[in-house]
Amino acid sequence: MHHTLRSSLPLAAAALLALLSASCSKTPSSTIRIGEYASLTGKEAAYGETSHKGILLAVEELNARGGVLGRPLELLTEDNQSKQGESATVVKKLITRDQAVALLGEVASIRSLEAAPVAQHYGIPMVSSASVNTKVTEVGDCIFRVCFVDSFQGRVLAKFALDHLHARRVAIVTSVSNAYSVGMTRIFTENFTAGGGTIVADQKYSEGDKDFRAQLTAIKAASPDAIIATGYYTEAALLCKQARSLGLTLPIFGGDGWDAPALIEIGGDAVEGTYFSTHYSPDNPSAEVQQFNQRYRARWGAVPDAWAALGYDSALVLADALARAGTTEPHALRAALVATKNFPAVTGRITIDAQRNASKSAVILTVKNGKYQFVTSVAP
Ligand code: PHE
Repeated sequence: MHHTLRSSLPLAAAALLALLSASCSKTPSSTIRIGEYASLTGKEAAYGETSHKGILLAVEELNARGGVLGRPLELLTEDNQSKQGESATVVKKLITRDQAVALLGEVASIRSLEAAPVAQHYGIPMVSSASVNTKVTEVGDCIFRVCFVDSFQGRVLAKFALDHLHARRVAIVTSVSNAYSVGMTRIFTENFTAGGGTIVADQKYSEGDKDFRAQLTAIKAASPDAIIATGYYTEAALLCKQARSLGLTLPIFGGDGWDAPALIEIGGDAVEGTYFSTHYSPDNPSAEVQQFNQRYRARWGAVPDAWAALGYDSALVLADALARAGTTEPHALRAALVATKNFPAVTGRITIDAQRNASKSAVILTVKNGKYQFVTSVAP
C-alpha cells in the first residue's frame, strides 16, 4: 500500500513533478523517499492509523513549504497488518525495492524490534515514534526513537502508585508474549519495591487472551491496594471488566499501551477511574499543542492522540536531520540524527541522547465520564 505525497500537492505542482520525473527517467528519485511501516489493519490498527495520519500531516506541511533540501518528500507506507513477522518483510521491501533513505515506525515495540535488525543490517536510519521498550534502540546505532523509554515510564508509574494511589501492596499482570509488557513489569517492580512497596501477586497471560478470571481470583485472594496491567489496551479493558464483575473495586492502572479509544469502547464503565501514563494530552494548554490540535483537526476531523503527535514529531525530527545533513546519504543522516538537540516538537523538546533515545515528560490520564482527563505531568 503506497501513499504518494504527490497526489496531495497542489495540482500545478503535481503536474510539474510528473513532468520532471517523466523527463528525467534516469534519476527517478527527485523526491526523497521515506519508508513508513505501520499497523494500518488488524488488531492494533487504532494507533497505526493515527500515527500514520500524524506522519502524513507532517510530510504534507513540509512539502507545502518546499520540501527538504529543495526536494519533495515522498512517503511510502507499508501495512504490516499487526501481524508478527510482517514488519521485517515490509521494511526489507522499503529499503531494497523502494530505496527509502530512512524509515519511520513503529508504535508497538514488538514490531519495532522486528524491523530494527533489518534497518541496522542495511545501515538505514530508523526513527520509532512510540516504542518505549529499551531493547529497541539497543539493536544498533541506526535505530532512534522520539519518545521516552520504559525505564522512565516504569519509574513514573511506581511513584504514582506510591505517592498518588498510596498503594503499598500491588498486584501485577503481565502479557508474557509481549516484550513491552515484560519490560514494563520488570522496571515497575524494581522501582516500586525500592520505594517500599510489595508485589503481592504476579499474574501472567498471553497476547489475545480473553479470560482473566483465574488471574483475578488469585489477585483477589492476595488483597492488594491496586492492580497494574502492563500490557496493551484490549486485554487491559477486558481485565478491568472482569475485575469489576468479580467485585474488585480497587484502582487499576497501566502504561501507554492503554492509550487508545478502544480502551473505553471495550471497557465501558469498568475503566472509569482507571489511570495510565502516556506521552501526550491534547488538553495541554501550551501553544504548540493547541496549534497542532487545530491543524490536525482541520486535516483529519479529529483530535490527535499521542500516536498522532509522536508520528508527526518523528517525521519532523527526521526532516530536520536531513536538512542539517545536507544529503540523504545514510551515514551523514545518521550523524545528524545523533546531533538532534532541543528540537521543538509537539510532544516536547527532543534531544537525542547517547543511547539514541529521547528524554521527555510523561503525563498521567484518568478516565472520567467516558473521556480521558489529565491528572498530572511528570518530568524526567
Ligand atoms: N508504547 C507501546 C510500545 O512500546 C506501544 C503502544 C501504544 C501499544 C499504544 C499499545 C497502545 O509497545
